[in-house]
Amino acid sequence: MESNNGVTEERAYFLSVINTFKSYREQSLKRIQNKECSIATLPYHHKKWLAKYQEDLDKLKQCIDKNAEFIPLVLQHAYNMFDNVYSSMETAPTDEVGTLSEGIDKVQSVFKQLMRDWSSLGASERQQCYSPIIEEIELNFPEDSCDRGEVEVLVPGAGLGRLAFEIALRGFKCQGNEFNLFMLIVSFHVLNFCKKVDEFLIYPWIHQYCNNIRVEDQMVSARFPDIKPTTPRGNFSMTAGDFLEVYTAGNEWHCVATCFFIDCAPNVVQFIETIYDILKPGGLWINLGPLLYHYSDVRNEKSIEPSFQVLCDVINKVGFDMVKYRTGVKTKYCQNPFSMLQYEYDSVFFVCRKPDMLANGVSDN
Ligand SMILES: C[S@@+](CC[C@H](N)C(=O)[O-])C[C@H]1O[C@@H](n2cnc3c(N)ncnc32)[C@H](O)[C@@H]1O
Repeated sequence: MESNNGVTEERAYFLSVINTFKSYREQSLKRIQNKECSIATLPYHHKKWLAKYQEDLDKLKQCIDKNAEFIPLVLQHAYNMFDNVYSSMETAPTDEVGTLSEGIDKVQSVFKQLMRDWSSLGASERQQCYSPIIEEIELNFPEDSCDRGEVEVLVPGAGLGRLAFEIALRGFKCQGNEFNLFMLIVSFHVLNFCKKVDEFLIYPWIHQYCNNIRVEDQMVSARFPDIKPTTPRGNFSMTAGDFLEVYTAGNEWHCVATCFFIDCAPNVVQFIETIYDILKPGGLWINLGPLLYHYSDVRNEKSIEPSFQVLCDVINKVGFDMVKYRTGVKTKYCQNPFSMLQYEYDSVFFVCRKPDMLANGVSDN
């Protein structure tokens, strides 16, 4: 489909994502300017008492400037992603395309996701969330009895790719899948162009103005990457697109690993069915995460929010055997350790197997 300015819808969307990245500094500073305007309207003695607050806002501006330095570095490679589909857009006039209305939140949350996936500050979150999945994969595909290079693992909803990368690092053939262009553009940079450990410094929580004891808690910095992502590794790739649309071929994967993902669907049953279909007979689905159904409060969205108990029944009806599960798995997500507000999920962890009818001696006849 062509939009008014002759740019295809998909390309126009890509350019508006680029524009939104470019607007990060201005939009983030604008928020501070709004606070400064509010201060300006206050009585003189309030302004005097709030002098330290104004100083704090000035410090935050410097942190925004620092975060903004990272953006042109990321964008210089963005046009060459996806087999250069967008390379011709590098010189396209971007003023014909606007920014995305909620896009700035996505840019700001990418900084938190960088902390989670690629900084040493995120190590404890990764230990909580990724390690149980990785351990389970290693347990089921031991190095001494299988060629891990032949074991194909899919990680849908891969975010910035660390879980998929860690699985590949252990010798598996691993593919991450993600549909959020903000995530894809940043992960493309980290995975392909970060050359040195702790090369970059960012302020992940600079946009969280509430629940800070001191401004320094808002200004906690993180260096990344904590590991050189370009170190030689197993077969690793990332795909762009909606999991439900990209993966339609049945019986392809030995293992599907989902972390904080299944609650991203308006209809979680469709995710479960697809995971079942794409797994080879005998294949494993390993999941960890809460049920924070993302579409639950989205207006005009046909969202369903079944409990874990109902999901277990659905998983069974789809055809899976649930071979293990644990509830109450303590997990955090992009959490500022110094904030007065601490979210911790009592997540569920489970492992399901798609039965192998032939191996079990069951046939259709
Ligand atoms: C809550 S995040 C979790 C990211 C990562 N697994 C982690 O634990 O940090 C869920 C991710 O799934 C992605 N996602 C949601 N629905 C998707 C879909 N249908 N296809 C591909 N990715 C999807 C989102 O863009 C987001 O990056």
